[in-house]
Amino acid sequence: MNNNMRIFKTPEELAEQFAIQLMNEIQDHSGEFFHLAISGGKTPDILFSILAEKYPDSELWQKLQLWWVDERMVPRTHAESNFGVVQKLLLSKISIPEENIHRIKGENDPEAEALSYSKQIQDKLPERNGWPQFDLILLGMGDDGHTASIFPNQLELLDSDQICEVATHPDSGQKRVTLTGKVLNNSSEVFFLVTGRTKTERVSEILEKKNGAEKYPASHISPDFGDLKWYLDEAAAKKI
Ligand code: 6PG
Repeated sequence: MNNNMRIFKTPEELAEQFAIQLMNEIQDHSGEFFHLAISGGKTPDILFSILAEKYPDSELWQKLQLWWVDERMVPRTHAESNFGVVQKLLLSKISIPEENIHRIKGENDPEAEALSYSKQIQDKLPERNGWPQFDLILLGMGDDGHTASIFPNQLELLDSDQICEVATHPDSGQKRVTLTGKVLNNSSEVFFLVTGRTKTERVSEILEKKNGAEKYPASHISPDFGDLKWYLDEAAAKKI
């Protein structure tokens, strides 16, 4: 079995264990700030609720700099806003300084926001090999093998020389702003949190490096200088 993989009975157990891991990592981090980038999706939603419930008053929130891996270009009050969900489930319930929260402004023009967000990342994050380095990036994987907002029909975003790009959802046409492959692969750590039966096939294709898996953006994520970990529930791991 892959050392970098852990399997949990349920999405709730996965999120509980990841919450503990995350808080320990923030605590043990030697730098002044811990730069975390989070994804949207249903698995992180459970995580945000658990963090709010278990650690509402933690002093570690002072040390956290919170960023987004991707955002849907909708206003923050829209049901599909990744920021809106985190605001509701987590940020409204913990004591985190406003200046530690770095959202992608979904209400702005996508191209302008991709540039402005890239600039903020460049200004605040340490660099390694000429690219900003997050301490931890939290990713999910869609049923089609996408990760962040890098979809199978836009594989070129994996090799982009920009920190952020504008992506288009292949079905809905919704615009997104997303971190690109080189930034994702420059992180000190990347965690995939993947749950549910609809992910079973993709997970086995990618983790077992089957032929054709390279068409899935998630299969190209493997940090150059860092660690890659896959946290799965039993349903997603069924074919491994
Ligand atoms: C988004 C994402 C996206 C997500 C996957 C998995 O905002 O849509 O960041 O990449 O992580 O689609 O989502 P689930 O956890 O809901 O399966």
